[in-house]
Amino acid sequence: MGKKRILSGMRPTGKLHLGHYTGALENWVARQDELDTGRKRVFETYFLIADYHSLTTSLETVDIFDCTIDMVTDWLAAGVDPEKSPIFRQSRVKQHTELFLIYAMLITASRLERNPTLKDQVRDLNMEAISYGHLGYPVLQAADILLYKGNIVPVGQDQLPHVEITREIARRFNKQYQHPVLGDVFEEPEPKITKFSRLAGLDGKMKMSKSLGNTIFLSDSPEEVQKKLRKAVTDTQKIRKNDPGRPEVCTVFSYHCKFSDQQRVEQIERDCRSGALGCVDCKKLCATAISEELAPILEKRSEYVARPDMVKEILLTGENRARMVAEETMSQVREAMKIG
Ligand code: TRP
Repeated sequence: MGKKRILSGMRPTGKLHLGHYTGALENWVARQDELDTGRKRVFETYFLIADYHSLTTSLETVDIFDCTIDMVTDWLAAGVDPEKSPIFRQSRVKQHTELFLIYAMLITASRLERNPTLKDQVRDLNMEAISYGHLGYPVLQAADILLYKGNIVPVGQDQLPHVEITREIARRFNKQYQHPVLGDVFEEPEPKITKFSRLAGLDGKMKMSKSLGNTIFLSDSPEEVQKKLRKAVTDTQKIRKNDPGRPEVCTVFSYHCKFSDQQRVEQIERDCRSGALGCVDCKKLCATAISEELAPILEKRSEYVARPDMVKEILLTGENRARMVAEETMSQVREAMKIG
């Protein structure tokens, strides 16, 4: 039995923030580096840049290359190891396009219209109408996953409907087409939700997000982190330093829970409730804890920033490796379908 494969991806959004880190990246790296008792890697990991998916919400492509490089630099800085995990742009592995077309025949338009993630997006972005390609977003995602025969797909909650559609497409394909030797060409992948998925924004909003301007970037210096934390929203009822506070409603406390050690967290909770600890000092402690976590990332980041060609090289290598795996799957598909 081969190793289980993990496949995940992001749209090329440019510089990443702490929410991406706690919600996805940290987990990607942990799975990539997980070893069994014989000190062998447990999983094969593949990380994809979903650049064609970006076209579903914006046709503007002038920044897409820079955004890709910025994002991949953050992946690498956070510990994605390109030797272990191929990193590749979807648009550079043409098999995605081919499998997408075939999958598009295996699902009904009405099934895609029922996708709740799409409905949310249409509402949030006030879209009047959506393109044919946007409706097909999960179909392209299914191709992303199944081309590499991904068994496990680490994603956020909002992506669960897409993994479900991927499972349906895998079943439908297997029912319709059998490979002369393999029988079923595809296995149904399992989604895996990261435990610490959501990080609140600095403004106290539910989610850290670039468009809301409430983020701490992985590339922020300790000074920037201090400055941003100073403006962070805390318990709005704690007005003076010695007012007792409510950690359970405080954004800064939620960051402490993630970035400070257990003992410190307990102490802060006590001192906040009693009024012994004011928000200004609490924020300083928090900024320091975050910067300590970010320090190795910043250091690694600077190595890649100094050598931009290296990031491009990593993509080209990753794309060559990805293409070989994708082509193997496609030849099975063509054989099973007797077409192509
Ligand atoms: N749709 C995912 C997102 O917006 C990105 C993505 C594209 C993806 N293809 C994928 C995630 C395949 C996991 C697997 O977050």
